[in-house]
Amino acid sequence: MNGNLKIKALPAEFYDRFLSDRAKKLQPSPIRGLYPLEKKPGVISLLAGKPEPSTFPFTSLTFTAKDPLKENSESTITISQDQLSPGLQYSDTAGIPDLLKWITTLQEIAHGRKHGMHASGEGEEGWRLSIGSGSQDLISKSATTLINPGDSVLVESPVYAGIIPIFKHMDCKQIEVPTDAHGIRASSLKEILENWPEGEKKPKLLYTVPYGCNPTGMTASLERRKEVLKLARQYNFIILEDDPYYYLYYGKSARPTSYFALEVTEPCGEEAGEPYCEVGRVLRFDSLSKILSAGLRIGFATGPEAILRKVDMLTANANLQVSSLTQLIAFRLLDSWGYDKFFAHTKNVSAFYAQKRDIFERELKKWLGGGVPEEGESDEGRLADWVSPEAGMFFWFKLLVDTPNNSSSQDSDEQDSRTLIETHAYANGVLALPGTVFLPNGSKTPYVRASFSLLTEDQVVEAMKRLRKTVLEVRSEQANR
Ligand SMILES: Cc1ncc(COP(=O)(O)O)c(C=O)c1O
Repeated sequence: MNGNLKIKALPAEFYDRFLSDRAKKLQPSPIRGLYPLEKKPGVISLLAGKPEPSTFPFTSLTFTAKDPLKENSESTITISQDQLSPGLQYSDTAGIPDLLKWITTLQEIAHGRKHGMHASGEGEEGWRLSIGSGSQDLISKSATTLINPGDSVLVESPVYAGIIPIFKHMDCKQIEVPTDAHGIRASSLKEILENWPEGEKKPKLLYTVPYGCNPTGMTASLERRKEVLKLARQYNFIILEDDPYYYLYYGKSARPTSYFALEVTEPCGEEAGEPYCEVGRVLRFDSLSKILSAGLRIGFATGPEAILRKVDMLTANANLQVSSLTQLIAFRLLDSWGYDKFFAHTKNVSAFYAQKRDIFERELKKWLGGGVPEEGESDEGRLADWVSPEAGMFFWFKLLVDTPNNSSSQDSDEQDSRTLIETHAYANGVLALPGTVFLPNGSKTPYVRASFSLLTEDQVVEAMKRLRKTVLEVRSEQANR
């Protein structure tokens, strides 16, 4: 994938500047820290207070699962008593070894990265994995690992609402970097970095959701990703690549490369006339929530060892590890499929959401896109603006409450969708999320996030009719003021 590019992993000391004071104080758990020693053949361990699995009532587990390559076909997977016992027992903090191994290979295939935990020898890429209780768990622990109160963190804006309270809790300054339909506006990011106030600590992190962004639905273009990575290298910040919608890409053109993959394909300089790539500025978060089951609560972080060992120490303190049983179930399913069936499954899932997107957009166009939707309706002009998502499950649209006649009352960019959604739309029987909840500074916005993942076609039609009714009511209220 990366031809003959030389790979240079950043050394462990590089991360000293990035680790928070709290992370620096963390020590390995006195018991869990010794677990790896137990694995030496011949060692009799009197270490951990592990219960004996044969005393547990579970003797086997059988479940059925879809075959991704054969429609309407299921296979039965039985986890025998022997195979089940690791799922009933405590295991490694970073995840059960079988699942870690399976996902490590997945990352190698999907992102063209060679696994190599210790950034020492030639070709070693210095990354590893940690499994968490969903990616949210790992994002939160990574924030604790990397942020000191008063630090500045760059966040794409609008941003995933679930990250805002985490950063607030860390008492950091959230610097909003504007996005558009192509992702983070690299020119704005550059401007922010070039004009960074003298004496103020430089930002250590940039948080982004590059595929089917929650809330905007945008998928960042390759060009933008390259520009952002270039800036990360130039200004030395770590990209938190939160990518739960990576496998929900259904765009027509080839998928843009992940930041994690770009690190080994985008050279950053030359050494003795040879181009090289420096790796270690991307901490990637994946999730099984959108592709296998949200209830499994399994996500994984992929990135520098120096950061993830601290994340693991937080896990050892907080919850010891993710449930061995759900990890085992996920592993047995994935192992029975193999990688080809896994990719076939994710293709099926993304095709499912592409169809949902098409239905939603068709009705959005019909009821809010201008023209006469149905007999008896009048042409009220456009009632909303949007960009069609190419991944994920969200539409982000701007409600056009202002008409040319009443736009003098308020600049349309100052219109806020909150009251319209929470009061008028709800009274009309439709609910969505007002865009303001995705802005760290809570400013007003006429945008709304609508999720189309669960709706039937009839529900979409009805929801769009109700939204149309709502916008027209608010328009008329404003005109009569
Ligand atoms: C952008 C983003 N990040 C993280 C998460 C959390 O996902 P998980 O279920 O893996 O914790 C979500 C969930 O919707 C999300 O949209």
